[in-house]
Amino acid sequence: MSLKQTAIDTLSKNDRGRFTIPTEGLYPYQWNWDSAFIALGLATYDMERAWAEIISLIEGQWPDGMIPSIIFRSDDTDYFPGPSRWGNTLGSTPSTGVSQPPVLATIVRQITEGPQGAARRAEVFDQIFAWHKWFHEARTVDGIVATVHPWETGRDNCPEWNIGLDLMQVAPDLPPYTRMDNKHVDPSFRPTQEQYDKYLTIVHFGDSIGWDQRRLTDEGPFLMADPNIHFVLLRADKDLLAMATEMGKPADIRDQISAWIAKGEAATDYLWSDDLGAFVARDIRSGAFSTGFSNCSALCFYADSGTHMQRARTIENLKRIAGKVEHLLPSWDPDADGFEAQRYWCGPLWPQMNYMTARGLDEQGEAELAMQVRNGLCDAIEKSGFWECFNPLTGAGCVGSNFSWTAAIWLSWQHETKLEGVA
Ligand code: SER
Repeated sequence: MSLKQTAIDTLSKNDRGRFTIPTEGLYPYQWNWDSAFIALGLATYDMERAWAEIISLIEGQWPDGMIPSIIFRSDDTDYFPGPSRWGNTLGSTPSTGVSQPPVLATIVRQITEGPQGAARRAEVFDQIFAWHKWFHEARTVDGIVATVHPWETGRDNCPEWNIGLDLMQVAPDLPPYTRMDNKHVDPSFRPTQEQYDKYLTIVHFGDSIGWDQRRLTDEGPFLMADPNIHFVLLRADKDLLAMATEMGKPADIRDQISAWIAKGEAATDYLWSDDLGAFVARDIRSGAFSTGFSNCSALCFYADSGTHMQRARTIENLKRIAGKVEHLLPSWDPDADGFEAQRYWCGPLWPQMNYMTARGLDEQGEAELAMQVRNGLCDAIEKSGFWECFNPLTGAGCVGSNFSWTAAIWLSWQHETKLEGVA
């Protein structure tokens, strides 16, 4: 069977009607940024179904504008922490109480391009605007968009979060729990028990304050700035502004988005570590910088942000890392403490990060590196199949198999290549 057919079959197998799960067993619900990337893949062959994916994601939006990281349409005993552990969250459908990197505006703009997409853009603009507003208000501290939970960053156990996690205590009254992830996959691929206790401590705190998002930001046990959320939101704000302009939205809406972009551009410098020559996470309360180049460090290109010097040093780091791995782009610097080639966000290559990084590099004139980043993923897929992530040293698949966003991104690239007449 062709890889294209296998990719389509993977998406069909994970299709639950109007939304798609990442993979059976390990992740039985709708995840936020997964759905957006899945829509990108579906749009290459079934626009109606792609659009249903986006609408079903938006249906999970809270009254305050947040679109949560997971929407729980059932209570599946295969997954922990499910809806009962998150408690009384505030959307009309049970969900987590944190968000995820907001890739939606960028993907909506891409798949609805042209006059025939105008009605679709109009259908979702206000909801996406409200979500961005939520990031810029409920999650902003002194002009910096913060994050309150490693799960919100999408990069769960990246060593970047150790600074913030080390500053926290596990809640003494944390109710006991049983992890389910380690029943589905090899525990050496997943976060540690100590990390899980801290993840659950933040959930326990959020539930105890009725998921008041401003209080969660100001008083919660974890408060860091994430280059992934920062650059993804900055890019998404730019795409939102482009859509607002095309749609002839009123000046106050356009001015509001322009102000978010100006704020974002100013905040890019906050994440720059001159020692490392890289954009890295920071603990907001202590100001401490993370200690390594990650697979969101080069998203400055995707967001079209950062100075000439910052971009040049980022390229140097990418080239150094390319010499260390068989498959770009590892999620954590192979030269930094904490690198583990198979453990979730401590080393594996992640498809969605390669997608965004390659797109940014391409758009900013770094075609050769963009190709290397694309090939890093495509070669791993050809070798191992549609896995959640891949060992960057060998290309072996890690964690979840038959993975939706991997299939979707592969389809999207195949489609783009065809359009250019290259393959
Ligand atoms: N990625 C997390 C998990 O592994 C939750 O979003 O369960």
